[in-house]
Parts: sequence; C-alpha cells; structure tokens
Amino acid sequence: MKLIRDPEKFKRILETLRKRGKSIGFVPTMGALHEGHLSLVRASNRANDITAVSIFVNPTQFAPKEDLSKYPRPIKSDLQLLRAAKTDFVFMPSVRAMYPAGLNRPLKIPGAKWPRLARGLCGKFRPGHFQGVVTVVAKLLHITGACRLYLGAKDYQQTAVIGQMIRDLDLDVRVLVQPTVREKDGLALSSRNRYLSPDDRRRALAISRVLFRLRRDLRKTRGTAASLRGRALRELKKGVDRVQYLEVVDAATLVPGGQRTKKRVALTACFVGKTRLIDNVIIPPSRIP
Ligand code: PAJ
Repeated sequence: MKLIRDPEKFKRILETLRKRGKSIGFVPTMGALHEGHLSLVRASNRANDITAVSIFVNPTQFAPKEDLSKYPRPIKSDLQLLRAAKTDFVFMPSVRAMYPAGLNRPLKIPGAKWPRLARGLCGKFRPGHFQGVVTVVAKLLHITGACRLYLGAKDYQQTAVIGQMIRDLDLDVRVLVQPTVREKDGLALSSRNRYLSPDDRRRALAISRVLFRLRRDLRKTRGTAASLRGRALRELKKGVDRVQYLEVVDAATLVPGGQRTKKRVALTACFVGKTRLIDNVIIPPSRIP
C-alpha cells in the first residue's frame, strides 16, 4: 500500500496505471474508518485492478458551528485497516494542497434538479454542506480521473447529489452505491458513533428500529404514507433528543411522498445527546398499485 499526499503525484500515478489498462476503483472518505468504509474498499477490490482510498476531512462541507475541529482523525489505525483490506493507494492531501486558493466552493448547485436534491432533508439543516461535498468530490474526481466511484447508501442524499453532479459535468465516472453496514442491533455504522455515551448508544437504537418498522408498514399497507410517517415520527421523538426530519421520498427525485409502485426511501436525521446521526431505509416498489 502506497501513501500519497501530493495531488499531482497521485494524478500522474493513476494516469500511468490507466494507460496500462488497469481499472481504478476510488473510495473517498474522511477517515475514522469502520466496516462501512471497508465494505466499499472490498467492493472496489472485487471489481477493479486498483483500489484507491482518499482520507480528507473536507472543511468546506462543515458549517461554522459543526464538528470540523473535533472530527476524529485516528490516522494510524485507519492506515492499518486499509492495509488489511488490501488497498493499493491512500491519498491523504493537506487542506492547503486541496484548497490552495482558500476555502472556495466553486460548485454553486445551480440548475433545475439541484434545489430538489440538495435543498431538502440534510440540505435544509446544513446550509452549504452539499456545495462543499460536490466541490470536494469534483476536485477529487478530477485528480483521480476515470474510475468507478464507491459510495455508501448510508448517506443516501449525498449519493443522489454526487450522481447529479457527475452527470451535469460529464465526468467519466461510474457510481456504485453499496448497502448500509449496521451493527448487529441495527445501528448504522458511522464515524460519529464514537461520540455516543453508553446511554446515547442505547437510545440511538430508536432510529433504525423506527425506520425498519416504517418500511414494514409501508410495504404492508395501501394507506397513505403520511399517517404511517406521523406515527413513526412520534415514536422516534420518544427515543431521541431532537428530530430534524423524518421523510418518505421518491428514491430518484427525493420529492416527499412518492408512489408505492416506485422505489422510495425513508430518511431521518436526529440528535442523540450532542451527536447528529442520519439513517435511511430503501422501500422497494410494490407490485400492487
Ligand atoms: P465519510 O462520512 O467518511 O464516508 C465515506 C463513505 O463511506 C461515504 O460514501 C459513506 O456513505 C460511506 N459510509 C459511511 N458509513 C457507512 C455505512 N455504515 N455503510 C456503508 N457505507 C458507509 O461521506 C463522506 O465521508 C464525505 O462526505 C465525502 C464523500 C468523503 C466527501 O468529503
């Protein structure tokens, strides 16, 4: 496994490999790695000659009062995990190397599709967040070049926004979304889970429990999603400290509601103690209209 910090060098090495006919799988991360990240590395390893992982805590996707300075950075153990998962390259640039001209967010989320995809759900509660995400991912993809890009369904809205950015900019990138990896008891793995106290950790279980039940109920009933969503919201509010949103949306457009004959997603963001957690479940289309 090779560790590279210089963007130009990383770009050149991957260009050379591509010229030799090697396929590249790319897994962007912010480190503090867990099995969720490693499942992406393994998926990439299965399908590509070369797997490259980036570790970069991207300042432009954090709002001023968010946890940028506190974000965990266990570099040593991250590198050990990546080596064990048979990563070929780790790209770990500095903030200065990625943003030599300052922390600009040149991608302004314009166009007809963006408001729907990026302004609702997390976009509403984290102003500028997705602008920072698309900016850094576009920069990383320009450095990496043509590749298969591995993303986790855990950040469902992020996969939709990045997919749209890739189509808008005609990048030579194929997106592969991998399922959310969970603890045995249902909690979705997240770098932020390490902030949870034992009591928080117990209460956080309400999130997956409510989402799984909502999925089951939505598949069973011909009734409206609205009443089931209302019940789920009430139950979630009992378990966690604050709910930012709990929505059922069309999986492709993220428009709230959706039709039962189309794929839908139920997504939530809530606070347990001071920790903000997100999770979602995919609701497959029902054959009975
Ligand atoms: P980060 O939160 O480190 O996540 C990196 C990738 O791992 C994302 O694609 C995310 O969806 C995936 N992931 C996280 N938890 C997962 C889980 N439990 N199961 C499956 N996949 C999971 O997402 C980011 O970083 C950043 O926004 C980034 C895309 C790197 C841009 O800075």
